[in-house]
Amino acid sequence: MASETGKSREGFATTLGVLTATLGSAVGLGNIWKFPSMAGSNGGAAFMFIYVIATFLVGLPVMISEHVIGRTARANAITSLRKLAPKQIWWLIGVAGVISAFLIMAFYTEVAAWVFAYIPSAISGALNSTDPAVTSQAFSNLIGSPWKSLIWQWVVLAWVAAIILAGVSRGIEAMTKRLLPILFCILIIINIRSLTLAGAGEGLAFLFKPNWSSITWPIVLSAVGLAFFKLSVGMGTMITYGSYYKEDQNIPLNALRVMGSDLLVSILAGMAIFPTVFTYGFQPDAGPSLLFITMPAVFSSLPGGPIVQNLFMVLFFLLAGVAATGAMLSLFEVPVAYLVERLDWSRRKATLITAVALAVVGSTAALSSSTLADFKLLDRTMFDLFDFMSSNVLLPLGGLAITVFVGWRWGLPAVTKGLTNDGKLNNLPVVKAFFFVAKFVTPILVAVVLLNGLGIIKFG
Ligand code: TRP
Repeated sequence: MASETGKSREGFATTLGVLTATLGSAVGLGNIWKFPSMAGSNGGAAFMFIYVIATFLVGLPVMISEHVIGRTARANAITSLRKLAPKQIWWLIGVAGVISAFLIMAFYTEVAAWVFAYIPSAISGALNSTDPAVTSQAFSNLIGSPWKSLIWQWVVLAWVAAIILAGVSRGIEAMTKRLLPILFCILIIINIRSLTLAGAGEGLAFLFKPNWSSITWPIVLSAVGLAFFKLSVGMGTMITYGSYYKEDQNIPLNALRVMGSDLLVSILAGMAIFPTVFTYGFQPDAGPSLLFITMPAVFSSLPGGPIVQNLFMVLFFLLAGVAATGAMLSLFEVPVAYLVERLDWSRRKATLITAVALAVVGSTAALSSSTLADFKLLDRTMFDLFDFMSSNVLLPLGGLAITVFVGWRWGLPAVTKGLTNDGKLNNLPVVKAFFFVAKFVTPILVAVVLLNGLGIIKFG
């Protein structure tokens, strides 16, 4: 395939690889860290319910839209939109996407840094205490130290850059094919443990029995923002991955599988965490520190002595580290693909420069709990600001623009050609249903939630 610069383009080699790379992007700290902490502090089941609806009506249509745009144009996010709509400004969606990729990576690599740092700590037994005051101290020691925060972030960046350097098929595809089975195995082992504990029922009730009184518009926006974040949509990651898809790939079916599996991983993560939390009398609403303060204390309460307890702790943070890796690969690939195709850089140069740029931008998030703790914009630390701006503003805006592009600018004939693989697939009803939702339902829903969630209009 020729790129903008005439270089041949690499792509995913196998249908299974397409699925694992895409699912590897979707499954990440969003499932293991964000979903449980947000569900835990926002009433459990009610939050999850809104999130599930948003995944179907918003996440899935945007994912299909991005994949078909990418595969049709066969280019990075910005160039794809320029090719499909020459001389119009739709490519700005891609520019916003590259900016979002940086903002997300800035705080995401730091959360991954804590996860990576916790693995040796858990092995050594340093996190083994049933007293949250002790585990809280361990966490503060980590995030309060500028050097530890920075160095672990660099370790994470070096790890991801090394895989990216190996290429789309030999790096991303090969790695996610290996990591995803490990992820599912660990998740199932932890679930067997948590679901056989005495308080499992209470934890499950928290996750599945909704209490609507806790839901407000900003929480609805957060749930919709999470649906974007979870499926890696709204900023061009999936346009980039779609551009590596094979011609005979069934895009709607693949997207449905990715969405379903991703949801399953979120629910399994919730079922690993909440039954255990409730069994030992901890609070589910610790927010972002649920994983790093509450969970070590929770695991230290398991029967079987320190070896078993530490084993579950190590497995848990390994799970998070594995999940974070596939997701970071997809975020990293967005600027790399652009730099290679647009500026004709080698993959090596693009990867190294992206890594350095991410280390610079990311350092402001890494230092948000130490050196820069008092530096705030819009009342938030850089870490919180990047998180909020990406999930609650940029991704929804990007998703809105992408579905408007597909529904109102690109149009049904082009979409049908793309999604039926030029007439080879017999899926016209699916394509029409998708098109209707992408044209009318998703944009209106996102607009209403965005305006209300940000307090721009008041509705109900
Ligand atoms: N989906 C990933 C997670 O749940 C994060 C992620 C990867 C992402 N690529 C993205 C989020 C692109 C938004 C956009 O952890």
